[in-house]
Amino acid sequence: MPTASPAAEQLPARTAAVWAALDPVVGGATSLRVLDVGGGSGMFAVPLARLGHEVTVVDPSADALATLRRRADTAGVGARVRGVQGDGDRLHAVLPPADDTGGYDLALCHSVLEVVDDPAVTLREIAGALRPGGQVSVATANRAGAVLARALGGHPREALALLADQDPTPGRARPARRRFDPAGLLALVRSAGLEPGPWRGVSVVADLLEASSDAAPDAVRTLELALAEASPYRDVAAGLHVLAARK
Ligand SMILES: C[S@@+](CC[C@H](N)C(=O)[O-])C[C@H]1O[C@@H](n2cnc3c(N)ncnc32)[C@H](O)[C@@H]1O
Repeated sequence: MPTASPAAEQLPARTAAVWAALDPVVGGATSLRVLDVGGGSGMFAVPLARLGHEVTVVDPSADALATLRRRADTAGVGARVRGVQGDGDRLHAVLPPADDTGGYDLALCHSVLEVVDDPAVTLREIAGALRPGGQVSVATANRAGAVLARALGGHPREALALLADQDPTPGRARPARRRFDPAGLLALVRSAGLEPGPWRGVSVVADLLEASSDAAPDAVRTLELALAEASPYRDVAAGLHVLAARK
């Protein structure tokens, strides 16, 4: 049984808008079946399990899954968190068919579409794992926010490269993370057979504040919530978020 609203959790201001969007979905009395794709070490999975939900994390990183296990056990929710080593592009290879299980009520895909081989395939795999009417919470990096952050950080050439959707630091061994814009993200979500709700900006100001800033975290969180759904502020946020439902 869910025990508390996520709003009651002391969560970072930078993800306040995501938790606020999830609150109506996860804050009720029903225990949900949640799939966290690329859930890593459990930044979302563990708080969701603490609310009473059953969470399956699929992630290719054995290290992240080991940290997830430790974190879930320490939080006393180990029985409600399952880690599965696997790839977002190939969920069908590691999860039982949705037809057999009824499908997940909610999936998370946070900060993962930037690194998977093919975001469209990953979203289709997620849609296939949901029950009809099930929802997916998608969070990605926002290209406009990345441009602004590089420019303010004193890297105008990298900012210009990002503006043209080019690798800001070509030549590195690791490929550049993908960035998205709102229209492109919504189109991608729709192409997977998902119906998106309104999009919001995630971390409009939190990532821009100096670590040394003495701004009160509660005040930053309140500001983030006020700016998340309002243009022009959301347009330059560090991230984008949308909740979408399987038709
Ligand atoms: C930036 S972390 C995000 C973690 C978590 N979703 C969050 O928001 O805190 C990206 C995660 O994606 C995972 N990942 C990388 N490639 C992946 C793939 N092909 N499919 C699923 N997850 C992947 C990484 O192992 C890592 O845990």
